[in-house]
Amino acid sequence: MEKNLKSHGTWIGKWTFVLAATGSAVGLGNIWGFPYKAGDEGGGAFVLIYFLCILLIGLPIMVSEILIGRRSGTSPINAMKIAAIDSNRSPAWQLVGWTGIIAGVLILSFYSVIAGLCLNYIFISAASSGVIEAQTQFENATQSWQGLLFWHSVFMILTLLVVSAGIKNGIERMVKILMPMLGFLLVFMVMYAMLNGAFNKALSFLFSPDFSKVNTDTFLSALGQAFFSLSLGMGSIMAYGAYMPKKQDIGSTSVSVASLDTLVAILAGLAIFPILFSFYDGFSIDETLVQLKENGLGPGIVFVSLASAFNDMQYGQFIGPIFFILLSVAALSSSISILEPGVAFLSEERILSRKKSAIVISALSWIIGIGSVLSFNLWSNVKIIGDKNFLDSMDLIAVQNLQPLGGMLIAIFIGWFMKESLIKDELGSINPIVYKIWRFFIKLVAPIGVGCILISQLF
Ligand code: TRP
Repeated sequence: MEKNLKSHGTWIGKWTFVLAATGSAVGLGNIWGFPYKAGDEGGGAFVLIYFLCILLIGLPIMVSEILIGRRSGTSPINAMKIAAIDSNRSPAWQLVGWTGIIAGVLILSFYSVIAGLCLNYIFISAASSGVIEAQTQFENATQSWQGLLFWHSVFMILTLLVVSAGIKNGIERMVKILMPMLGFLLVFMVMYAMLNGAFNKALSFLFSPDFSKVNTDTFLSALGQAFFSLSLGMGSIMAYGAYMPKKQDIGSTSVSVASLDTLVAILAGLAIFPILFSFYDGFSIDETLVQLKENGLGPGIVFVSLASAFNDMQYGQFIGPIFFILLSVAALSSSISILEPGVAFLSEERILSRKKSAIVISALSWIIGIGSVLSFNLWSNVKIIGDKNFLDSMDLIAVQNLQPLGGMLIAIFIGWFMKESLIKDELGSINPIVYKIWRFFIKLVAPIGVGCILISQLF
């Protein structure tokens, strides 16, 4: 007997899915992760390889996730189960949905800590008079576990409030406010960088590929970044796909989301690098990179290098907060999509109301997040996996293993196990050549490409 699952409703209008999915995709990964990986991996060559990963692997998997989600209109766990049963396959395929939810709880746990730090930096950068060095500001902000915990809590509560209000009154309403705001702030930052920063240097850094720096790590890092940035393999996009109206075309919508996500990553690079390059005026691009690496290319690029540039420049107390508001807005429209799949599952199964589901799952993430808070201070020497601290271990488990595993299984399921007639029903009138190309990529290229990320973890 089929259970009668509670319906979540659908997005109103054609653009809401695009807004919500772009909101999910555009986040800390674009505005902070992309620029620092590009900086670390040789600039233009990385950017080019990243484009290919988005196009050849990310996009086909995004189509698959939306397709499976929309077909059933349910959370990823039930969506996978229904698609498997209708294809006469084992309902155990629902495990893909479960690993996604575990990955989501873990990703949200540290995402919220970093996003909380961004919230905190809105105030730090507004109050900064340039007397205290950026490095010291960063240490002050991260040495106090109470401070980090406070901002982690604020961010988690914001996420919880949006998701518990539901699809129409929560997520849909929020992305309609947040996304235009994000677009506006980003364009403002790029224009500022264009007028006041070393824009040409940034352009040549991002767009003139130097293949001498490319090795297999560059590919793996680009593919991992593409996966994280498109929110794939964890159920965010599948859950949002469930609310997409039936008449909407999946292929062209996916192309819009992936293009907007890539555009934002590039624009973020064009906002950040001109400011950094002009701060290190007189140095060549390579010398600047060496300097940047001294501050640490991870959190350092935004919270130390960029923050010192803000401290140093005219109107920095105004531009700095705008940048950190931009980062916080982007993070919030992503974190709601990380929480949604689990909440959708608990509430459609009528295990808990939507509100209670959101409270339970975000509380779980919040508690696990305390470990990441402490990894900046009290536990900075505590190694969890290998020589990784708590935060990096969560990233290792969830982002570098569970997320690609989920993506690979989705590709294998749709490429080899799902009935083709069901797929064609959902895709509608698609150009037969485009369909064949998509089939080829989803059957072979995507599973092998993503499999390489997983295998590389073993060495
Ligand atoms: N894509 C977002 C970013 O770039 C983060 C994100 C949202 C995500 N949902 C996800 C990452 C699901 C992995 C899986 O910041």
